[in-house]
Amino acid sequence: AATDDGAGDLAARRVVVSAGGTREPIDPVRFIGNRSSGRQGVALALAARARGAQVTLVAANLDVALTAQARAVGIDVADVETAAQLRSAVREAAGAADVVVMAAAVADFRPAAVPDAKIKKVPGEGPAPIELVQNPDVLAELAHQRLRAGQVVVGFAAETGDAEGTVLEHGRAKARRKGADLLAVNAVGGGRGFAVDTNEVTILDGSGEEVARASGTKRAVADGIWDAVADILPAT
Ligand code: CTP
Ligand code: CA
Repeated sequence: AATDDGAGDLAARRVVVSAGGTREPIDPVRFIGNRSSGRQGVALALAARARGAQVTLVAANLDVALTAQARAVGIDVADVETAAQLRSAVREAAGAADVVVMAAAVADFRPAAVPDAKIKKVPGEGPAPIELVQNPDVLAELAHQRLRAGQVVVGFAAETGDAEGTVLEHGRAKARRKGADLLAVNAVGGGRGFAVDTNEVTILDGSGEEVARASGTKRAVADGIWDAVADILPAT
């Protein structure tokens, strides 16, 4: 697949790509969000479309210019805000999909309760703590349940190294934990990954073994990921 330059190798395939970053409401006017621009996810959707796939893009708070670009080439776009909405939209589309790629930055936690009215400050008083609860892991669920036989499930891992291990060590552990077929690991922080036009990923299989590397524009990285998917996609 790496040599065919993408000419229609995903023709007649249905793929779902989630992109962007979820927002978890704190009150009617505030949310907990993250720095994902969604550009790598949109690049994945556009690349799949160019390779012939029928694409559903589950767009978490994407810039309208990005979703317009996707719609213009015939990609189905489902706009979502929260992790719960993203989960329903992805699972609905995944029932008929050959491939699901979870490129969205999904909030790990959400406020346990969301008041109907704006939270007010009281002069001289500190804020009340916000209790958080954990969101379901959409990727791990898809990987472990497989909504369709033979479906290829792909995740992303944005990592910073820390005292516990390097970017790649964290990536390998995550690949084994998630149960996805492929995990694209990239280093973030210090200007890498978020809101930049280039990216660099190491693609691991479910056992944490490296199967490929891809770098360059987000479109080039997207094509590298689709090459790796095409290599393991069961024949129709
Ligand atoms: N993901 C998901 N649902 C969540 C959290 C993450 O589907 N509730 C997906 C992301 O879309 C990504 C992958 O899981 O494809 C890895 O996300 P990441 O945040 O790196 O992993 P976590 O398991 O959340 O681990 P941590 O944030 O603690 O590193
Ligand atoms: Ca996370």
